[in-house]
Amino acid sequence: MCGIMGYVGPRQASPILLQGLRRLEYRGYDSAGIAVSDGGNMTILKAAGKLDQLEAVVAGAEPPGNLGIGHTRWATHGPPTDLNAHPHTDSTDEFAVVHNGIIENFHQLKEELMAAGKTMVSDTDTEVLVHLISDEYEGDLAAAVRKAVARATGAYALVAVTVHEPDTLVAVRMISPLVVGIGDGEMYLASGIPALLDHTRQVVVLEDGEMVTINPGRVVLETLQGDPIDREPAEIDWDVEQAEKGGYPHFMLKEIFEQSQVAADCVLGRLDGSSVTLEDVEWPRGFVEELDKVWITACGTAFHAGLVGKELFEGLLRVPTEAVYAHELRYRDPILEPGSLTVALSQSGETADTLAAARLLQDRGSRLLAVTNVVGSALTHYADDVIYTRAGPEIAVASTKAYLAMLVSQYLLALDLGHRRGALDQARALEVGGALAKLPAQLEEVLKREDGVEDVAQLLAGHDDIYFIGRGLDYAVATEGSLKLKEISYLHSEAMPAGELKHGTLALITEGTPVVVVNTQQHVYDKTTSALQEVKARGAMVIGVAYDDDTEIEAYTDHLLRIPRTLDLLSPVLSIVPLQLLAYHVADHRGLDIDQPRNLAKSVTVE
Ligand code: G6P
Repeated sequence: MCGIMGYVGPRQASPILLQGLRRLEYRGYDSAGIAVSDGGNMTILKAAGKLDQLEAVVAGAEPPGNLGIGHTRWATHGPPTDLNAHPHTDSTDEFAVVHNGIIENFHQLKEELMAAGKTMVSDTDTEVLVHLISDEYEGDLAAAVRKAVARATGAYALVAVTVHEPDTLVAVRMISPLVVGIGDGEMYLASGIPALLDHTRQVVVLEDGEMVTINPGRVVLETLQGDPIDREPAEIDWDVEQAEKGGYPHFMLKEIFEQSQVAADCVLGRLDGSSVTLEDVEWPRGFVEELDKVWITACGTAFHAGLVGKELFEGLLRVPTEAVYAHELRYRDPILEPGSLTVALSQSGETADTLAAARLLQDRGSRLLAVTNVVGSALTHYADDVIYTRAGPEIAVASTKAYLAMLVSQYLLALDLGHRRGALDQARALEVGGALAKLPAQLEEVLKREDGVEDVAQLLAGHDDIYFIGRGLDYAVATEGSLKLKEISYLHSEAMPAGELKHGTLALITEGTPVVVVNTQQHVYDKTTSALQEVKARGAMVIGVAYDDDTEIEAYTDHLLRIPRTLDLLSPVLSIVPLQLLAYHVADHRGLDIDQPRNLAKSVTVE
């Protein structure tokens, strides 16, 4: 999830590019760059770090030119360095490309290009695109881009320029967003509407599989096959802040709604049937076969993702797994046998306790695998292997999409390890892989049901104490549902295994006390239902999270939040979403500062 800005017109391009990138910083901010063409020459300026660094480079050396492209990066391939910053150029420096998203087959394309004698200077997937475009160029940039993208698979948006066509921008959208801004004798292109609002409110939004060729006075929209598309510009009446939130009232809600795409991005190029390819994971010979213990360590929401991981690794690998809070683990004296794997989960990759616990286990001989959303974060420096969750920058303090991406990453890991160890037969592996591939569409379905969740939220907003229960994976989801609620609504909430209620907490259940039950795990379904009867008998208001086709639960619940049926093993990816929406709407009814809850920080880098 990076920011892209383009300009062509009578004005100097570079200040317009920098201003646009500033508006897009919410999409990524680990490095930035611009390419500006004055007709004969193209100047490329880049800098690792926040946009201020690039502005410092540009100040005093402002490249002249009326055409340009710019980029602010959120790394997916390769750490945030000057070399990996965009724009990327071909070996002649006559072509430049900025890109957002993932080129799935880039390893294969890179090998082909290198075998043909090309030199690659960065670790990015983007660089292959610019080489493909320059190879295909025969005097028509649009034709060259069309041929190049026909060889690439993935989900991305790209913009290409060449010194040979000094008033032309060519862009393609394949899932990642792109919007053309229509000016008077000048045109803009951006990955988000906020970047355009300083200049114009007339926009043309590209759809998937579309390509646009832009000159100062002309916009030609076509399909990738070259069929013309006639689309009238739309008028945008959002202010900049609304535009940054994609029209949603809060970043949290926007991020909840991104989760279908996040699940798709996380598996992109990594899952093929039952076979998993994790690009930054390289198991030493014999390691997987001899693996005899998995440690999961994390804090907060990431720890709750780890509770799901524990069930997965034990279920799919049959390897004993412990999930331990990092702030506990780091002060324990853990006993490690040879052949253990530590999975450290951290959205930011910077949480001090998680880093310390992960290093402690690593120092005692464990292999360390990081699951993180931030390329080049501190955790990745220590880790032997990394799975990047590819959720894009998460702005709201309460984590939603990063949690979901951690879940999906762990499913990929468990499938990979289970397969390699022979703990999963082919039929089961295919079943899990097939169900994983269906999750993005099922998430879309769950998100369409927001109104029903909002109705239930209204009923909860006036209560003081809310309980969440479930068993096994449902309990793991309950912990995260409860945390979301307390973080942003400031209501007291507790999660517990459904069987634990009767050992104390039942004393707190009185007439009208809300109890949220997650009940998707068939092997303990009846047991959880018994717990429901116990709370119902004390007058609780029961809200169930259950599969669409579960009619039995209707007898034991007052309100239901439904999810499509999936394998019980995968249900957390779906069942967490109504709980995120519930927390959001309760907090919204209470009129609270949802994106920045009191006393909390996005990343806790101190002990
Ligand atoms: C903070 C945040 C939580 C987050 C936790 C771990 O407490 O407020 O939302 O889950 O840190 O963060 P990490 O970046 O390690 O996932």
